[in-house]
Amino acid sequence: MGCGTWAWGNRLLWGYDRSMDDELQKVFNLCVENGVTLFDTGDSYGTGTLSGRSEELLGRFTQEYEGANQDQICLATKLAPYPWRWTRNDMINAANASAKRFGQNINLVQMHWSTANYFPWQEWPLLKGLGDLYEKGLVQGVGLSNYGPKRLKKVHQLFAERGIPITSLQVQYSLLSTAPVTDLGIKQVCDELGIQMIAYSPLCLGVLTGKYSQDKLPSGIRNLLFRQLLSSARSLLSCLQEIAQNRDKTMAQIAINWCICKGTTPIPGAKSVSQAQQNIGAMGWRLDAGEIAALDQEAAKVEKPMVQNIFQTQ
Ligand SMILES: NC(=O)c1ccc[n+]([C@@H]2O[C@H](COP(=O)([O-])OP(=O)(O)OC[C@H]3O[C@@H](n4cnc5c(N)ncnc54)[C@H](OP(=O)(O)O)[C@@H]3O)[C@@H](O)[C@H]2O)c1
Repeated sequence: MGCGTWAWGNRLLWGYDRSMDDELQKVFNLCVENGVTLFDTGDSYGTGTLSGRSEELLGRFTQEYEGANQDQICLATKLAPYPWRWTRNDMINAANASAKRFGQNINLVQMHWSTANYFPWQEWPLLKGLGDLYEKGLVQGVGLSNYGPKRLKKVHQLFAERGIPITSLQVQYSLLSTAPVTDLGIKQVCDELGIQMIAYSPLCLGVLTGKYSQDKLPSGIRNLLFRQLLSSARSLLSCLQEIAQNRDKTMAQIAINWCICKGTTPIPGAKSVSQAQQNIGAMGWRLDAGEIAALDQEAAKVEKPMVQNIFQTQ
């Protein structure tokens, strides 16, 4: 199945309210017009009265879009292995509910996280359910999220026995979260198994855009996190800024392009047309080897990088 060179993550977390919907639709349209056609969401995105809202919006935007690349749109969702989901049928029901919110079949269905760290056997029937969806033709592709190389190989074996390919694996990957590749070796295993690695939170939630500083911190849960990250990443951020200035690009564009140069598909979240426009400008060119080496070096020096997702497995 075809996916864009990068994609738009639609998480509807901090700062979302319904008054943003028109702007988000413009973001969606701009992305598709520019060839960004993979849209990632999750059935756990949006809580309380916003439950399922992200999937509903993406479905509506897709139906209302008319223009270039219309037939390339790929709606990817992640089904959560909630404690009350136990059987393969639970996964089929979950997928049907997501498809209903989309108003169409899911293109890429992903297991949101592995239960290996706390309930190792819970996920096997659920993964079998994902396989059933593929075999029944209800999804075009199956992917995983937050799996490490050991667990990935086991799941790959399970699917290979049924002749089901794994399309993608998404992990937290950015200049401030290199461990999945440098420590766990996930990219290498993905390459060996023919799986596309998707880089989520490629801007480290906004730290790598350069717009935040100790004097200008975001509110909410990012506030405390950014205080620490901004001080650990000082030298990396200067390097990003220098490369951005030399190339007449923005720091966000450099950070996203670095992910592309590493052979991954970044899915930056954009909340406004201007952010999306900027992020689209990360495509169509490449950092050179010297710039990548300089960024790698600075990234390796960061003593306290972004914390890994608690569900990330080995
Ligand atoms: N599989 C998983 O477990 C998992 C976990 C997390 C995320 N994801 C996926 O990855 C997607 C993206 O990740 P994310 O939203 O966590 O992090 P991100 O892409 O690293 O950061 C997105 C945030 O950065 C800011 N931003 C984006 N573009 C910008 C620009 N050009 N200039 C300035 N600021 C900009 C915006 O926030 P402000 O404007 O408020 O600063 C935006 O919400 C999610 O939507 C989701 O689909 C998956």
